[in-house]
Amino acid sequence: MYLTKEQENMLNGGHGEVVERQMRLLVRLGEIYKADKMIDVGSVQVAGVSYKSIGDPGLEFLEDIAHKGAKVKVLTFLNPAGMDMENWREIGFPESFATMQKKVMDAFEQMGIVMSATCTPYLAGNLPRFREHIAWSESSAVSFSNSVIGARTNREGGPSALAAAICGFTPNYGLHLDENRKPHMLVKVDAKLEYNSDFGALGYHVGKIAGSKIPYFTGIKNANTDNLKALGAAMAASGAVALYHAEGLTPEASTMETKGLEIIEVGEKELKEAYAKLNTGKDPDLVVVGCPHASLREIITIAKKIDGKHLKKPFWICTSRVMKDAATRMGLTATIEKAGGKIVADTCMVVSPIEEMGFKTTGVDSGKAGNYLPGFCKQSVVFKNIDDLIKSG
Ligand code: F3S
Repeated sequence: MYLTKEQENMLNGGHGEVVERQMRLLVRLGEIYKADKMIDVGSVQVAGVSYKSIGDPGLEFLEDIAHKGAKVKVLTFLNPAGMDMENWREIGFPESFATMQKKVMDAFEQMGIVMSATCTPYLAGNLPRFREHIAWSESSAVSFSNSVIGARTNREGGPSALAAAICGFTPNYGLHLDENRKPHMLVKVDAKLEYNSDFGALGYHVGKIAGSKIPYFTGIKNANTDNLKALGAAMAASGAVALYHAEGLTPEASTMETKGLEIIEVGEKELKEAYAKLNTGKDPDLVVVGCPHASLREIITIAKKIDGKHLKKPFWICTSRVMKDAATRMGLTATIEKAGGKIVADTCMVVSPIEEMGFKTTGVDSGKAGNYLPGFCKQSVVFKNIDDLIKSG
C-alpha cells in the first residue's frame, strides 16, 4: 500500500507511540483488504462507548491512550453511552455503573472527541456530504450515511474508527470504492408501509436474506428519513447490510444497474411473519422508542400522541442530547413527562443495563432493538407500531 512520507513517519514513531500504534492498525487493515492507499476522512463516529459493552479492558485501553496524549484530528462523535449522562440517577441507572461510565467519557473527552453520544450523529451536528469519505462505526449510522446521504464508509470497528480519528485517514477499500457500491439483489416490495415498525419489519426480513449484500428496493412508494433510518438499522442488525439503494429515494439508486439481479419479493405475508418473529413477549414492563435515536420530528409526533394521557408503565424516548435540548426548549419534554414518559439522552435500550434495572419485557417499534434485546439484555420483546405501544403503556 502506498504511504506518503508523512504517513511513513507516523508509522515509524515520528509522531509518538500512540500514533504509531494506530497507524500500524490502519496499515494492517489496509493490507488485509488490499487497499492501494490511505484516504482522508471528513469525520469519525466511534463505537464501544457503553461501559456495558467494553467493560474494564476497554476502559483501561482508553485511559491508557488518553493518558499518553492521544488526540483526534477530525470531527469525531461517539456512539451511545450506557446511560443518560445528566439524568442517570433520576432514571434509575445504578451508581456503580455510572462511576465507570463517567470514566469512559472522561477518557474520550481528553482526546478531543465531541461529547455527543448518539447513533444519529447526522441529526446532531455531524452531517457528511454526498460522496464524502468518513469512518463511522455504529451499524445504523453507517447504513444511513452510505445509503440515504451517499457518503462513504465501511462498517468500522471501535478500534479502527478511533485509529482513523487519531490519524485523520482510513484505508481505501470496500464501500469507499465505486465498484463495491453496486447492488447484489433486487427487492420488490408490495406491502403497506405506514409506521417505522413496518419499515423495521421489512428491514429485519430483508437483512436476514441479504447478509452483507447490497439490496436495491423498488416499490417503496414513500418514506421519510425516519422511516429510512428504521429500515437501514433493522437490515444492519438482522444481517450486516451497510448500504442499500431505494428507487426514487436514495441518491445513488438512479445510477445503478439492476438488470439480471436475483429478485426477492416481499409482501404483506412476509411483513406479518417478521412481526411474529420479533414478538417474543406479551406484556411490556418498559416501553422504549428511539432506535435509532429519535429525530425531532419523531419526538414531536410522540408528544402529540401522548399529550393528556397517563402512561402507566415506564416509557422512554431515546435520543441525542442535542435533540433533547431542542425538545425541552419547545416544551415537548414537559408534555412527555406530564404524561409519565421520559426523554432519555445519550443512551439506548440495548447499550444500557436495563436487565440490571429489573426490566424483563420491553416494548419497541424498532426492528433493530427487537433483534438485539433478547441476546444483549435478556429481554422478551413486544414489537408493535407506536400507536399500539402507547396503548400497551
Ligand atoms: Fe442506536 Fe441503540 Fe438502536 S445504538 S440504532 S438506539 S440499538
